[in-house]
Amino acid sequence: MKFEITPGVDWVGKVDWELRKFHGEEYSTHRGSSYNAYLVRDEKTALIDTVWTPFAKEFVDNLAREIDLNKIDYVIANHAEMDHSGALSALMHRIPDKPVYCTANGLKSLKGHYHKDWNFQVVKTGDKLSLGKKELIFVEAMMLHWPDSMMEYLTGDAILFSNDAFGQHIASEHMFNDLVDQSELFEEATKYYANILTPFSPLVTKKINEVVALNLPVNFICPSHGVIWRQNPLQIAQKYLQWAADYQENQISLIYDTMWDGTRMLAENIAKGIKQADDAVTVKLFNISRRDINDVVTEVFKSKAILLGSPTINKGILNAMSALIEMVTGLKFKNKKAAAFGCYGWSGESVKLLTEHLNRAGFAVVDEGLKTLWQPGEEELSRARDFGKDFVAKIKG
Ligand code: FEO
Repeated sequence: MKFEITPGVDWVGKVDWELRKFHGEEYSTHRGSSYNAYLVRDEKTALIDTVWTPFAKEFVDNLAREIDLNKIDYVIANHAEMDHSGALSALMHRIPDKPVYCTANGLKSLKGHYHKDWNFQVVKTGDKLSLGKKELIFVEAMMLHWPDSMMEYLTGDAILFSNDAFGQHIASEHMFNDLVDQSELFEEATKYYANILTPFSPLVTKKINEVVALNLPVNFICPSHGVIWRQNPLQIAQKYLQWAADYQENQISLIYDTMWDGTRMLAENIAKGIKQADDAVTVKLFNISRRDINDVVTEVFKSKAILLGSPTINKGILNAMSALIEMVTGLKFKNKKAAAFGCYGWSGESVKLLTEHLNRAGFAVVDEGLKTLWQPGEEELSRARDFGKDFVAKIKG
């Protein structure tokens, strides 16, 4: 598959319909993904990025059908992560002397991954590469989302090749933003931001403002995953600015695990109390051991407050909750309130532990938590509803 973006600029990547887990097992990709590579032809020809390693041969074979590989003058490696650099070795085997443009950090990570001494050309923000009538202007994008990340702007066509920024894990026959289902597109773009970019939000804001300040026209944003933004392309940059500003919706998420339904009963009654106190707030419940963890992380991203629940087991918490806490702690969510709940039979440490985890993860804990003994009866369920009502009052305070 190959398609034209503008005359002289073609997509030459790979749509991966089968992908269901990305970053090892770290990120669920329910809708597959694509690894976007671009061929820019002017008087000189540049290839921007490659594809993931399993598709290296297919990529190089397809590229060789599209262009005599020796006619590629420049290879641009925006990012060394294997989903974009994975076909470099196979490509460079065919054109070993062609220059590979990357950042100083890119040089380190590409050498670290492939142990090759290709003809690296290190570039920094503002450096230009003339292709003839058009030129590529490089923009370093450190920590968006790796130290080596880089973008470039193509003059004339006004295309920003943004690498991972503005991407979404979607496989589609339609590779432009105006051709796909908008709710699916923004669901995946939100999930991508929440699960990958949240820790770097201050840098997202800084970089977007830096690019906007250049006052350059942008007709297309071409990310390295998913669809190309061509209809109102800057809408995704505006979304990123909103998401980077400690984003939240009027939502409270109750995330719990349960052994014999006691903690689930608490969750459902806390939710009732919340709704009694505030009918306008969206309340969602997630049993973390039955839900996709990345989808739950996305709901945490959207929430103004969360409640974590687990019964006590072996003086600890259930392991699906531990995995969520590990992920949420690393993502460094800001401006979110929280509390914990759970039932127990013997020693009852779970609420205290969850509260400590929430504090460590940067949540503002507004209540010492709700802890009930054995299976909740009417009295405990009533306490849970009151706890929900109090939680609404406390997060307002
Ligand atoms: Fe950071 Fe799509 O690789």
